[in-house]
Amino acid sequence: MVSKDMDQDIEKVFYTEEQLQARIAELGAQITADYKDFDEEIFCVGILKGAVMFYTDLVRQIKLPINFDFMIASSYGNSTSTSGTVKILKDLDYDIEGKHLLVIEDIIDSGTTMHYLKKYFAARKPKSVKLCSLFSKPSRRTVDVDIDYCGFTVPDEFLVGYGLDYAEKYRNLPYVGVLKPSVYQNAD
Ligand code: IMP
Ligand code: MG
Repeated sequence: MVSKDMDQDIEKVFYTEEQLQARIAELGAQITADYKDFDEEIFCVGILKGAVMFYTDLVRQIKLPINFDFMIASSYGNSTSTSGTVKILKDLDYDIEGKHLLVIEDIIDSGTTMHYLKKYFAARKPKSVKLCSLFSKPSRRTVDVDIDYCGFTVPDEFLVGYGLDYAEKYRNLPYVGVLKPSVYQNAD
């Protein structure tokens, strides 16, 4: 069960709110510099739900006009290991043909989700596609995924907070950490 005081369930804080925000400001500045001479606005696609916090903080650090869109793709059930299949539960609202797509994701783990989505996007003929992920766990990769903008490279640990969940909980923690083993042991 999740404690009322969620901080009690965290064994170790990996990134504080300040560290996350500082890195996101850097990513936003880099993206702004890279896209400033582009002919059209950036079409920012956030992958819900995990990327929601990162998306809203990052786009406020991109000092250029953007389009705002989201998808829901799921490769996970309520467990901490991937099932290998990707389902699109919510598609894009807009046509992306000829657009400069910036895909904003929380974490690239096995790579299954993003490998699938990149093919899905390419089939819709955008002008360009770049990927920005807050976290990458390269030691877990089963398929290669190029990340154009990566916030942090992390070890093989299951992270929660700042959008990342365990069984849909802990997304609203403002920092990122790992759970105490007792939280998994007491899972329903
Ligand atoms: P992949 O398809 O294995 O790369 O997994 C991608 C998705 O799995 C991410 O978008 C997350 O939603 C979820 N995920 C992977 N690692 C973690 C983690 O450490 N904590 C929480 N969610 C994770
Ligand atoms: Mg995700």
